[in-house]
Amino acid sequence: MIALGCDHGGYNLISAIKKYLDENNIEYKDFGTYSTESVDYPIYAYKVATAVASGEYEYGVLCCGTGIGISIAANKVKGIRAAVVSNEFGAEMTRRHNHANILCMGGRVTSEEDAVKFTDIFLNTPEEGGRHDKRLAMLEQIENGTFSE
Ligand code: RB5
Repeated sequence: MIALGCDHGGYNLISAIKKYLDENNIEYKDFGTYSTESVDYPIYAYKVATAVASGEYEYGVLCCGTGIGISIAANKVKGIRAAVVSNEFGAEMTRRHNHANILCMGGRVTSEEDAVKFTDIFLNTPEEGGRHDKRLAMLEQIENGTFSE
């Protein structure tokens, strides 16, 4: 189950992604916003990030104008690894190496066609373990305030 969210700047991309998910029978919940009327991206980042962090949703997709603001907001939630992606390689590697659980993109940066492509790659790329597990443990330590080299 995928959690979706956007602000006005990412509404076009989320609409295209919903079409892709519908066509592929992938279940999702759209947490809004539901139009191009101006809204504040932290609201939707928080809704999706807490939904993913709770474990109820496996992944999230968040879009704003650049993908940056909404990713910064999502990454404030414990357990979230939100990645701004603007190319296919990034979409793949952030799953393999960072075990990203939220994909972020910008409606003023990325085309609808590319956003769908990156979403497809993100949802279908597995996590790699090995050396990456140690680094992810470090991220958790930073989050918990227990990090030391
Ligand atoms: C809204 O104008 C814009 O600031 C927002 O969509 C996003 O790009 C922020 O990072």
